[in-house]
Amino acid sequence: MDLVFRPRRLRRNGPIRGLVRETELAPRQLIYPIFVAEGNRVREEINTMPGQFRLSVDEVVRECEVLYEMGIGAVNLFGYSEEKDELATKSYDSSGLVQRCIREIKKKIPDLCVQTDVALDPYTTHGHDGLVIDGEIVNDETVGVLCKMALSHAEAGADWIAPSDMMDGRVGAIRDALDEQGLHHVGILAYSAKYASCFYGPFRGALKSAPKKGDKKTYQMDPANSREALREVSLDLDEGADVVMVKPALAYLDVIARVRSEFDAPVAAYNVSGEYAMVMAAAEKGWVDRDMAMMEMLHSIRRAGADMILTYFAKDAAKRLKSDYGSFS
Ligand code: PBG
Repeated sequence: MDLVFRPRRLRRNGPIRGLVRETELAPRQLIYPIFVAEGNRVREEINTMPGQFRLSVDEVVRECEVLYEMGIGAVNLFGYSEEKDELATKSYDSSGLVQRCIREIKKKIPDLCVQTDVALDPYTTHGHDGLVIDGEIVNDETVGVLCKMALSHAEAGADWIAPSDMMDGRVGAIRDALDEQGLHHVGILAYSAKYASCFYGPFRGALKSAPKKGDKKTYQMDPANSREALREVSLDLDEGADVVMVKPALAYLDVIARVRSEFDAPVAAYNVSGEYAMVMAAAEKGWVDRDMAMMEMLHSIRRAGADMILTYFAKDAAKRLKSDYGSFS
């Protein structure tokens, strides 16, 4: 055949494919979510998320040392609280679980970027991210509590606060609260476009945080919308967000790409629990290759435009990347 262009020329072998590969994945771009539990030497596997654990503070610190050695970009802490009440009072206790955990990590590994989830659901009896008054998830009253929670994390040494609650105006309010206390250096990673997704199911199993009544559709976004995501991102940036996030990642790659092209701020994406659990379940059945699925998915999220990815695969992907950039060679 008389062809000028033969694209296959650039796919002839691993090194050639390596030269023209467009997207790089590195451990420094990965953020590992960790579930913190009370106790000592606790390492309890989460049955909805095989390979993930609820860890006591001492175990979290050990884990963080390994992650830091591996070059993982950051950890993101979630509290597994058994002490729940209507007003989420444990969420902002300066000697609470997450607050203690931050201090212990910072004592041992001061340079590891520690991020913390800010939302009330692990601490409320009803399982909503905000306060509930007369059956309604109230916005402004919730923001007051979120500010207290964020401050308690920042005072304990958190590098970035990550509000995942989707209340209106919380980024600006948290920024003000931090600045008033001189905590100008603490960043805000805003869950800006967080959808009301079924893919959080395994996570809610892990934290026993599923809402007792109703759903989260009055605050999390409608999966059918993408212009609204741009509006949410724009509001959060105006309020002072340092990094904006799209969540979940895989069913929303188009949203990641749009946010990337319309804004110049760093973009994060959350490869959530349901996305992890689907791969693990299919791999267990022998239907997909776990590592290949993991690498393909993480590359798709980077290709869509995310600078950093929260993922339960962080450690496994980092290991794989170290071995031989084995992903697609
Ligand atoms: C809590 C929160 C959730 C996730 C992160 N923060 C669950 C929810 O909003 O119901 C989900 C993470 C995951 O599924 O991996 N506000």
